[in-house]
Amino acid sequence: MSKSESDTVTVSIENAVATVTLNRPAKRNAMSPSLHLEMAEVLEKLRYETTSRVLVITGAGESFCAGMDLKQFFVDLKDNPPEFDRIFRIATEWRFRTLRYYPKPTIAMVNGYCFGGAFSIVEGCDLAFAAKEATFGLSEVNFKHFPGGSVSKSLANLLRPRDALFYAMTGRTFKGDRAAEIGFVNAAYPLADLKKEVMAVAQELAQKDPDALAACKDGYRFSLEMSAEAALNFAAAKSDQLTLRQKDSWRSEGIGDFLGGKYRPGLGGHEKAGPNA
Ligand code: COA
Repeated sequence: MSKSESDTVTVSIENAVATVTLNRPAKRNAMSPSLHLEMAEVLEKLRYETTSRVLVITGAGESFCAGMDLKQFFVDLKDNPPEFDRIFRIATEWRFRTLRYYPKPTIAMVNGYCFGGAFSIVEGCDLAFAAKEATFGLSEVNFKHFPGGSVSKSLANLLRPRDALFYAMTGRTFKGDRAAEIGFVNAAYPLADLKKEVMAVAQELAQKDPDALAACKDGYRFSLEMSAEAALNFAAAKSDQLTLRQKDSWRSEGIGDFLGGKYRPGLGGHEKAGPNA
């Protein structure tokens, strides 16, 4: 039950953006039990913390994340089923559920190696950007296993069948450009530009209404799991929830300032309506 390592995850907050860094560079940021426990804690804290409006997840050093810690998770816990189960649940929960339904926008900034279980981090985030130099791989088959835990479902959620099965079955690596081409990330940039590009998107999101952003996420993510009728009903209820949370400001300010000639929402956000809007 112990948490043997510390500072396996670090957080810095700047200009309303929280950068969460997987911090085991000597182990290529492989996800140890301690890292999973720390990540779950960090996400819980940042969820309610008010100075940050956007989360960026990245890795320390040359790697984004080398997947599950193959030794500490699969080997060391082999004869301890209850502890294996506990860590497995937490590991799955933060990547597959907490991130997916996180109330703030989340961005994966893939700075380097991204293997196996790390695919679930990337898929769980709303947006993802990679360094062109980053190396991706579903390496499980290379050690005679398969994309287990939440990874197979992450692949099924996001990738086209041919791409998912090709990379899962061959274990071949691919680079950032290919990750963008198959839609696993939004775009790839030279590593030297990655942070600047990601922070520009993060700043753009930080300017938007946070309740509207949360509704964007919920509307999309829950619709995936619903019938069309249920999704339409959910969207109508969401709209009423948003109206209540914002005190109707989407109508009074958002639409009102457009009708008042202060800005054009087709061409930019409400912040363009000016400070007195
Ligand atoms: N689990 C546990 N330890 C890992 C790890 C993982 N997933 N990935 C890397 N490490 C450790 C290595 O054991 C090594 O530890 P050591 O210095 O104590 O010997 C250290 O990280 C550096 O790894 P190394 O292989 O020397 O670095 P590299 O830069 O040459 O290669 C990788 C990096 C990521 C390509 C290589 O480590 C690798 O193939 N890792 C396994 C990736 C994988 O299959 N992930 C899927 C897990 S679901």
